[in-house]
Amino acid sequence: MKKSVAIIAYSLLATAAFAGDQDDRQTLNLSEAQRGHVLKEMRALLSGTQNILAALSKDDMAAVARHARPLGTNMAHKAEDHDHLKDVLPKEFMRLGMSLHQDFDQIASDAESKKDPKLTLRQLSDSMSKCTACHESYQIRKVTKSLDSGHRKH
Ligand code: HEC
Repeated sequence: MKKSVAIIAYSLLATAAFAGDQDDRQTLNLSEAQRGHVLKEMRALLSGTQNILAALSKDDMAAVARHARPLGTNMAHKAEDHDHLKDVLPKEFMRLGMSLHQDFDQIASDAESKKDPKLTLRQLSDSMSKCTACHESYQIRKVTKSLDSGHRKH
């Protein structure tokens, strides 16, 4: 008897813990290619910010600019043309992403003109709150059929 109470208590706890781990973030339904493209850009953002931090630790502001620039709005324009991404991603997602790319443009140009590592650190920290905010809001799910198969015209 005691044992079964314990088992029930345990399974209730386990269920509660499991429910807490449920992924309730808004779902982006993307094709395989679209998902692949977004995640590739994400990995570039991560390695780019790591390179910026490494450059900052050596006060190498030229390297900061060199690593920040490819993460700027240029990266976004390339991505948009890809796989009709801007047709399928929500406006708020695009806005947050674009604002992050603009931050990296700013980080690159300030690193060149002002050469102030503390300023760059502050800018990077502020910008990375956009990584966090977006990751808290969205998850990607794969759809088997391509969403852009209708050949939408721009
Ligand atoms: C506009 C939204 C948005 C912004 C801004 C954003 N991400 Fe992401 N990122 C996502 C989404 C959505 C995923 C997929 C999450 C999921 O499905 O669980 C993701 C996934 C990732 C991944 C996993 C990649 C993989 O191969 O699985 C990394 C790493 C990552 N992001 C890094 C970053 C970094 C670093 C920044 C900021 C410099 C950033 N992201 C900013 C939306 C964003």
